[in-house]
Amino acid sequence: MRIQTVGVAGCGLMGSGIAQVTAMAGHPVVVREPEARFLESGFARIEGSLAKFAEKGKITPEQKGEIRGRLKGTTSIADLAGCDLVIEAIVEDLDQKKAFFRELGGKAKPQAIFASNTSSFPIGELGEASGRPDRFLGLHFFNPVPLMKLVEVVRAAKTSEEALAPVRSFAEGIGKTPVLAKDTPGFIVNRLLVPYLVEAIRMVERGEASREDIDAAMKLGCGYPMGPIELLDYVGLDTTLAIVEGWHRRFPGEKLFEPPALLRDLVKRGQTGRKSGRGFYEWEGDRRK
Ligand SMILES: NC(=O)c1ccc[n+]([C@@H]2O[C@H](COP(=O)([O-])OP(=O)(O)OC[C@H]3O[C@@H](n4cnc5c(N)ncnc54)[C@H](O)[C@@H]3O)[C@@H](O)[C@H]2O)c1
Repeated sequence: MRIQTVGVAGCGLMGSGIAQVTAMAGHPVVVREPEARFLESGFARIEGSLAKFAEKGKITPEQKGEIRGRLKGTTSIADLAGCDLVIEAIVEDLDQKKAFFRELGGKAKPQAIFASNTSSFPIGELGEASGRPDRFLGLHFFNPVPLMKLVEVVRAAKTSEEALAPVRSFAEGIGKTPVLAKDTPGFIVNRLLVPYLVEAIRMVERGEASREDIDAAMKLGCGYPMGPIELLDYVGLDTTLAIVEGWHRRFPGEKLFEPPALLRDLVKRGQTGRKSGRGFYEWEGDRRK
């Protein structure tokens, strides 16, 4: 099977990027949001990103128009019925995702493949909700999607080879490097990254090193572009807490997934990182004070 028309559900931060790179690779794309105003803001984000590509000379004004022409917005799930692949990037809420896939499963053509961009929910559970677990997998992109090369292709217990192979080809076709992961918490990247970030918080909590020294150590000692404490402020302390709390509920005995008290306290106080102006550090927009 060759994937031609692609549906994208959700045109937020991730969905808009996924829709954009898919259209840039030549696919017709149907983007679905529940309300027209969310579609408008998502398409404005795509427009802004395409304008930057054009400014840098990576696409011509003519190509920009063609890419824009391949993107169709809709508020109706029924308009996703003709897609070969539907990628879901709606809010990170298990019940909303299941409800979406349940409805989509009843409308999409039988051979269509479904993928979720979820960062934390089991792919197998979403696959069951869709009614076609054999044609269901995870397709986990990274932010910002137009620039980040990686996509994790997540194979759940019932995902078939017939679904996996065309999606891997699709991922390569849109200029990404697919890596194959099993349906385990955090897949590859977050499974390694989140415990590392959480351990950095525990070091601060235990008073073993200052936040500045931890960041300097990992930048200069490991060549990382950003230290873990600064990265936590970037990602959002609330986002990190939600991930570890979810994992902790699923695997209560796993010490690595225990949410540190300091992380809970900061989030309770509204210090969620860069977006709130204060996390471990103080922020003014994108810059640390
Ligand atoms: N933000 C990241 O860095 C990142 C990275 C990888 C994966 N993800 C995952 O991608 C998904 C989306 O995250 P985001 O950061 O783009 O969120 P977001 O809040 O920016 O966007 C979500 C969008 O989904 C829309 N939506 C809600 N319910 C919908 C429905 N039933 N149908 C269609 N659209 C619906 C919302 O209106 C919103 O525009 C989540 O599952 C998240 O875990 C996020």
